[in-house]
Amino acid sequence: MSSKFYITTPIYYVTDKPHIGHAYTTVMGDIIARWHRARGDEVFFLTGTDEHGTKVERAAKAANLTPKEFVDKVSLQYINMWKLLNISNDKFIRTTDPKHEKTVQDILRKMRENDDIYIGDYEGWYCVPDEAFFTDFQVKDGKCPECGRPVEKVTERSYFFKLSKYQKKLLDFYKANPDFLAPDFRRLEMINRVKEGVKDVSISRTVVKWGVPFPDDDAHTVYVWVDALINYVSALGWPKGSFDEFWPADLHLIGKEINWFHSVIWPAMLMSAGIEPPKKVFAHGWWTIDGQKMSKSLKNAVDPAEMSGKYSVDAFRYFLAREMPLGDDGNFSEKGLADRLNNELASDLGNLVSRVLTLAERYDGKIAGTPELDKHLNIEKIDKLMLELDTFNALTEIWSFVREANRHINEKRPWQLKGEELGSVLYNLLEAVRIISILIGPFMPETGQKISAQLGVKQKMLLSECKFGKTKFTVKKGEHLFKRIE
Ligand code: MSP
Repeated sequence: MSSKFYITTPIYYVTDKPHIGHAYTTVMGDIIARWHRARGDEVFFLTGTDEHGTKVERAAKAANLTPKEFVDKVSLQYINMWKLLNISNDKFIRTTDPKHEKTVQDILRKMRENDDIYIGDYEGWYCVPDEAFFTDFQVKDGKCPECGRPVEKVTERSYFFKLSKYQKKLLDFYKANPDFLAPDFRRLEMINRVKEGVKDVSISRTVVKWGVPFPDDDAHTVYVWVDALINYVSALGWPKGSFDEFWPADLHLIGKEINWFHSVIWPAMLMSAGIEPPKKVFAHGWWTIDGQKMSKSLKNAVDPAEMSGKYSVDAFRYFLAREMPLGDDGNFSEKGLADRLNNELASDLGNLVSRVLTLAERYDGKIAGTPELDKHLNIEKIDKLMLELDTFNALTEIWSFVREANRHINEKRPWQLKGEELGSVLYNLLEAVRIISILIGPFMPETGQKISAQLGVKQKMLLSECKFGKTKFTVKKGEHLFKRIE
């Protein structure tokens, strides 16, 4: 049954260039969005950039640009990166878009009408050179967690959101919606933290100038996280536009480090504004690089454009999905990527397609027979895994079918067959390859299309087409799909 599916990625800070971490969430989001399109769902896939705050102001200054010039420049790097990686987002939201800014103010007004906002004193640690505030939790030995210089205790007027009022409501909500938080161990982690107690959050700053003016008090700007979270509804044109059609979001896909904002603060803000919370927040794990944490000081950030240039966009996408289950942490190494490209893409998949198409091109008889290979294919199982966001095992399942098809060639030895017998083996192999082109499409869109084109079939790349049927093939073999890397 098809339905609507609204999926989002975090909106990325423009103070950083897009790296493998950003690419990971966006590619995984894209795979899930494309899978839902293949199911026939009405999909809305959102990504974008988070463009306010002191850090942006500072970075702009360092680059000799106005903040606006700076954010225009960097957000374009994200837009271009997603184009390169074949990301099928339906919208790219930027928090400096005036429509978004107005929505932020409107939502805050709703929260205030609900008596959830008050003015008070914010006490925190301030790093003067960085112009940034930190909590007790972030500051160690009186040093700034970003630059290591000493921080000072400051107090400033600030608006607060009564998060504490929502503690019980949140716990009730988690209980009533066991699927809201995933994976399971993260759900327990969040529930425990909320049970321990939640404090009201400071949601405005007087020292930050590059931000959305606080409604009806422009001595303050809105705290960047409040501004950023609202992108998920402003992108739909709340309270009108496609909001009715797509809200609540079906999935906020995020990294584990920003789970608190998405699983606790965001649903509470929505409850306060009288808007239904999203259906699911899934927090994925983190990549290390050659066993080390990715960091600016180590200068070890992996550039997705470089990897795609070297190994192909589809190999890079495949690697991201294949190397680690969505909720786990994993390690990136170029050797790992090259190995998967050689063994799984060039050998398993590339050879299958090449062998089958070579045989089919040489054969001029009738391609017909009874399905045999179909018993190794369980579309319902793959679909179920994908709906559970178990992309890793879904891919394992698809690959076992690829290997089964290769085994079929070795067993049947079609090069020794003729006539009807050959026609029947080819029928099975061509149907298998056609179905594989649809199943891998969300993971490797270009490869899926290439195979489909080489088979000369008309298909919409829908799951409903993944049945052994009476397809008409006009085979025209092309180049090998993947180049091996030594
Ligand atoms: N702007 C906020 C998000 C606001 S959403 C309303 C932000 N931006 S960010 O640029 O820092 O991006 C964080 C996201 O990048 C993580 O949640 C994750 O999706 C991705 N990753 C960054 N580094 C990562 C790894 N090393 N590994 C995997 N993903 C990580 O936070």
